[in-house]
Amino acid sequence: MKVYVPADAAARALGSDDVAAAVQAEATRRGLDLTLVRNGSRGMVWLEPLVEVERDGVRLAYGPATAADVAAILDGTSAKALGPTDDLPWMKKQTRLTFARVGLIDPLDMAHYRAEGGLVGLERALALPPTEIVQAVIDSGLRGRGGAGFPTGIKWKTVAEAKADQKYIVCNADEGDSGTFADRMLMEGDPFHLIEGMIIAGIAVGATRGYVYIRSEYPDAIRVMRAAVGIGRKAGLLGPSVLGSAYAFDMEIRVGAGAYVCGEETSLLNSLEGKRGVVRAKPPLPALEGFLGKPTVVNNVISLATVPVIFEKGAAFYRDFGLGRSRGTIPLQIAGNVRHGGLFEVAFGMGLGEIVNDIGGGTASGRPVKAVQVGGPLGAYFPSSLFDTPTCYESFASAEGLIGHAGIVVFDDTADMLKQARFAMEFCAIESCGKCTPCRIGAVRGVETIDRIARGDTAAIPLLTDLCNTMKAGSLCALGGFTPYPVMSALTHFPDDFARAKEAAE
Ligand code: NAI
Ligand code: SF4
Repeated sequence: MKVYVPADAAARALGSDDVAAAVQAEATRRGLDLTLVRNGSRGMVWLEPLVEVERDGVRLAYGPATAADVAAILDGTSAKALGPTDDLPWMKKQTRLTFARVGLIDPLDMAHYRAEGGLVGLERALALPPTEIVQAVIDSGLRGRGGAGFPTGIKWKTVAEAKADQKYIVCNADEGDSGTFADRMLMEGDPFHLIEGMIIAGIAVGATRGYVYIRSEYPDAIRVMRAAVGIGRKAGLLGPSVLGSAYAFDMEIRVGAGAYVCGEETSLLNSLEGKRGVVRAKPPLPALEGFLGKPTVVNNVISLATVPVIFEKGAAFYRDFGLGRSRGTIPLQIAGNVRHGGLFEVAFGMGLGEIVNDIGGGTASGRPVKAVQVGGPLGAYFPSSLFDTPTCYESFASAEGLIGHAGIVVFDDTADMLKQARFAMEFCAIESCGKCTPCRIGAVRGVETIDRIARGDTAAIPLLTDLCNTMKAGSLCALGGFTPYPVMSALTHFPDDFARAKEAAE
């Protein structure tokens, strides 16, 4: 009998280690021949710890499980039975490409990885000249999943065509956006997939060395990735001859120190070089002068982990999913005040309302949804009147918002949007690297101005609008440049919360 109990950080936080220990103890007590697998999460966080028991080749789900449920789960009589995992509506409605193996496999079992299609993409890429690898990524339509949506293949082409004695692949795993956890889940649940993507990137652009920069708040992801790199070296995946080919590639895991701005690629590079995490002016682009001044691909975890899919299934297959210029799938992270929070991978194009109400099941509190913040702390707040906005880069940009890293945080009607606007400015003031004035000074003035409005001084509203325009146009990076999105969307879509402040003051 095989029993799966996730070792994903969210599942562990909800007690999966106790459940795993109970499974082991019960198996010993009964003298059962039982294999316990600590898999990644299937993404249904409200059902964690989600235990799966494999019977006759079918994985049956039970959740949320406690140690006390284990005996009945093993007997097949538990009231927490949910049926076959693959038949659950949450799983059936998805198009799992990047997350196909997350939750399915033992993350550190290379044989299991291979048995579920792992390394097929790399083997196919190894048979192609580097220029064709780059072209396939361009043809797939893959765009950067870290937030900016820049075409991944074009970035690779710039690095591939740069002349240098050394080039690098840097994976941005400094997942700092509120309500996001896709990078963490992928690294904890399918680390070889990311490694495979990084190797393909290295071969494509001529880089022999890679780094994964992981935020220190992700100790589980750090541990799993380090272990996977060690296993990859022993298996001949990493090292002087990748899978026996003429290509060399090796990599290491580096840990950040907790600054949000180090998710911005140039401060990340500074931090990786051992310097203070301050933003560098662009140009030069990291693609030409990146890590240690050498041409560097800086890609997010999800961008890199999607690359093997493009080679396994074909660029045309991947491109076939999506809407307009947003091709392929996007792993949505549904969080906040929501009944069914978790990771949901789907083709671009699903409407925001469908995600929040049908997939997420509305608010956890049962109250009406007031606002949804998409794209992290720098993302706009969407009111329900904009719920027909399809998830694609262009639609969100025309609605004065951004998809960012696809974090979706739900708020019910008790949320005070003036306080949320203040939070955005305060967040920027705290996290600002201090390099440019509109952000360093602007965010502090922004907090003060919102406080004036909160005290009833609505004459300060045009000042706040002016300040936001200055920050948007004059900031050096997205932190100062995008903070106006949550602030202005709160002001535009929820003016009553700003006027109410005046009434309260009177
Ligand atoms: P950007 O638009 O300046 O650049 C996007 C990417 O394309 C960068 O890697 C840049 O180096 C590259 N690039 C641009 N032109 C290129 C060319 N001709 N050849 C090769 N590469 C080229 O955006 P930026 O400042 O890197 O990121 C802004 C976005 O990041 C925002 O949309 C924001 O939502 C998101 N963000 C995400 C965070 C997270 O935690 N995931 C944190 C902060 C911001
Ligand atoms: Fe630094 Fe803020 Fe300027 Fe970005 S916008 S460079 S975080 S001061």
